Amino acid sequence: MIWKRKDLLGIEDITQEEIEHILAEAQKTPEPVLVGKSVALLFFEPSTRTHTSFDLAAKRLGATVTGVPIAQSSVQKGESFLDTLKTLEAMGVNLFVVRHGESGILHPVAPQLQASVINAGDGAHEHPTQALLDFYTILQHKGKFKGLKVVIVGDILHSRVARSNVWGLLRLGAQVTLCGPATLVPKEASEWGVEVSYNLEKALQGADVINVLRLQLERQKESLIPSLAEYAKLYGLDAQNLSLAKPDCLVLHPGPMNRGVEISSEVADGSQSAILEQVKNGVAIRMAVLRLLLSSRSKNEESRGRLKKAKA
Ligand code: CP
Repeated sequence: MIWKRKDLLGIEDITQEEIEHILAEAQKTPEPVLVGKSVALLFFEPSTRTHTSFDLAAKRLGATVTGVPIAQSSVQKGESFLDTLKTLEAMGVNLFVVRHGESGILHPVAPQLQASVINAGDGAHEHPTQALLDFYTILQHKGKFKGLKVVIVGDILHSRVARSNVWGLLRLGAQVTLCGPATLVPKEASEWGVEVSYNLEKALQGADVINVLRLQLERQKESLIPSLAEYAKLYGLDAQNLSLAKPDCLVLHPGPMNRGVEISSEVADGSQSAILEQVKNGVAIRMAVLRLLLSSRSKNEESRGRLKKAKA
């Protein structure tokens, strides 16, 4: 397929063919195809994995990378989000990687920019490159998606990872079960085309993949669980309840982990865990997305340039 999109704002927006194209692109050996391109990283929320892997990915492809220090920027003087991006674009930035606490903030802004925009996590909405690296890791282990039972366990309510995973996994043909306490599963989840379970033991039966989510205590405005100990007892993945899944069940976690709360160290560091593979695959997936968004635009710009010259 020929890649046409300028931006990657979410998995809900893209087709199965586009997801498969990104996964195929991630297998390519990195070459410096983005020399002369400029990438800016704007993280309004903390990050280790996503920020660093975008930084490494862009540099491996030859782009220059600027990490914009939000706390020292004119955002603190009240400059709007759009004005901030337009200011940086005027300096020659070709692509923005943005993490922001507000769900959906990028959708009205991206069409107002010539530069590409990648959503690196917006509120509890989407985290498309996390989902893509999850899919890539599943594909490496299972070789397919169709018919797989994927259980997403934990704080679904606050999770952008869960939403991006659900849209993509359903499009790829997997069966998805969401499991967590009723207070942490959004009411509308039953309309997403997934199974919803409040009982972890039942949900894990026959699972091919378990994606364990972080309990996002920083996003809980009120107490939604009785205690961490109770949550760990009812919804924590440990060696005992993992044995209810298929013997070759793969364990994923987007990180960072609350060890001993949503996942035991025995499972996180065990033979079924692919958590560090996910981190490694994050660089490959982010290189793939950067390459597709920036090099396809270069080709389009070149062909537009050739057309202009031919007409002149
Ligand atoms: N999974 C993830 O987004 O991790 P970071 O917050 O460290 O980027």
